[in-house]
Amino acid sequence: MELTAFVWLVFAAVFTTCTAVRTKLTRRGTPRTSKSLPQPPVATGAPLLGILPALLAKGPLQAIRDAHAEMGSVFTVRLLHRKVTFLVGPEVSGHFYQGLDSEISQDEVSQFTIPTFGSGVAFDVDFATRREQFRFFGDAMKPAKLRTYAGLMVREVEEYFARWGQSGTVDLKHELEALVTLVASRCLFGEEVRAKMLGEVSTHLRDLHDGMRLVTILFPHLPIPAHRRRDRARARLGEIFSQIVSSRKAGSSAAAAQSDMLQSLIDSRYKDGRATTDTEVVGMLVSALFAGQHTTSITGTWAGARLLDRANEEHLRAAVQEQERMVARHGDRVDYEVLQEMETLHRCVKETLRLHPPATVLLRHTRRSFAVRTREGKEYEVPEGHTIASPMVVHHQLPYVYSDPERYEPGRFGPGREESEADGGQAFSYTAFGGGRHACVGEAFAYMQIKVIWSHLLRNFDMEMVSPFPETDWFVVMPGPKGKVMVSYNRRRISAPCY
Ligand code: HEM
Repeated sequence: MELTAFVWLVFAAVFTTCTAVRTKLTRRGTPRTSKSLPQPPVATGAPLLGILPALLAKGPLQAIRDAHAEMGSVFTVRLLHRKVTFLVGPEVSGHFYQGLDSEISQDEVSQFTIPTFGSGVAFDVDFATRREQFRFFGDAMKPAKLRTYAGLMVREVEEYFARWGQSGTVDLKHELEALVTLVASRCLFGEEVRAKMLGEVSTHLRDLHDGMRLVTILFPHLPIPAHRRRDRARARLGEIFSQIVSSRKAGSSAAAAQSDMLQSLIDSRYKDGRATTDTEVVGMLVSALFAGQHTTSITGTWAGARLLDRANEEHLRAAVQEQERMVARHGDRVDYEVLQEMETLHRCVKETLRLHPPATVLLRHTRRSFAVRTREGKEYEVPEGHTIASPMVVHHQLPYVYSDPERYEPGRFGPGREESEADGGQAFSYTAFGGGRHACVGEAFAYMQIKVIWSHLLRNFDMEMVSPFPETDWFVVMPGPKGKVMVSYNRRRISAPCY
């Protein structure tokens, strides 16, 4: 029986009941509405199991779509003994993304990440400390740093594809997984990791990913082999990174002068002047890898699958023509500024993320009830204690926001159309990177990385997808393409157009 990604996520809600954490906070909410509003309609489900059988039978996307079609943009489903309220569409999503964490929080649904990220960081620390730590990530992603990373990315990507032959057939998914790990390592850790132990670090990272299973949500410390491998990998990564941090702090490493994320985290200071500890730096590096590596590699693969799909030849041609214009204007130079000019490619990636968001459903926990008003003018009060779900797989395909929503159409984000801004310029029509208070701090980094990879491929290779367009692997937490994505290539050199 297939347990889908959605079930995985909703089990996070179930997990909250297994966790005594912060229950006091959930008790102190008071209704925020002055008038008495009805609660959202509740989907009928099986006794005791609620919506679980429907999810397993239909898959997450269809089950949510059906409930949305039947009950509208705000509805509650029961999953075992939990109540999960879905908010579909920009009109009802404001509080989800912008509400105070004291009222609508992430903590209750994220505790299971602690064994992976480690102690002293992310959801193991109080909200104020976590905010500061995420600010450190933000600082490491500022344009000045991104300029440096762009150079590192370009070097890594050129070296990687230089190893491809004159022609051949590859599994694009596998290739981009390997390449994104290399790029992330170069930008995050610098030369020490690359030079000495990239192979070992990659293996441990795989074990960390593999150690985040469905059962992890419910029982993060269950003594199963995957958890044991995760704990061993986390401990070894801790040792490796701690040594590097110590040597950088001692000034004994030549790489100390480098401008990678590791150095940026070492140099970060909390508002009270306190320096980051070694444990925190190591935990933040692991968190950054977790947040960024897999998401970026599957997006790069989906972007390729979409562009190489025969149905999208016109978009592939437009992307290649843009590269020709770039070559005419800048020659072989690819840097931060040139990447900013690649608007067609940017829209191709953005459209890929609309159709294939790696985070399919975002979750929060209501510590205080709140009111929502739907597009049709219906008002509801969402009670405290509910788990709240923002299913971007559904609201990225709302026909009143996106015309012909199932079609891959990068031009929808172009000048004059700007569909994600439609309907009065509502925020939260497009939330591939979240939004509001918890918007992704790695968005620019991720775009840059995918654009460096695809601008290189479009300039240097003729490519064809020789396997069918991939299905989505709903079985995993962040759904990527299922199976291999086989692509044949022939080396060539793009030429500048004659004007
Ligand atoms: C294609 C790549 C990526 C996608 C699709 C993505 C998606 C997201 C989403 C949807 C959220 C919001 C989560 C929520 O509201 O519950 C988020 C938050 C976050 N992302 Fe990303 N992300 C990507 C790459 C990265 C990278 C490269 C980093 C590097 C450090 C990163 C770091 C973070 C952090 C720290 C947060 C938490 C922000 C906060 O809570 O204030 N992400 N990301």
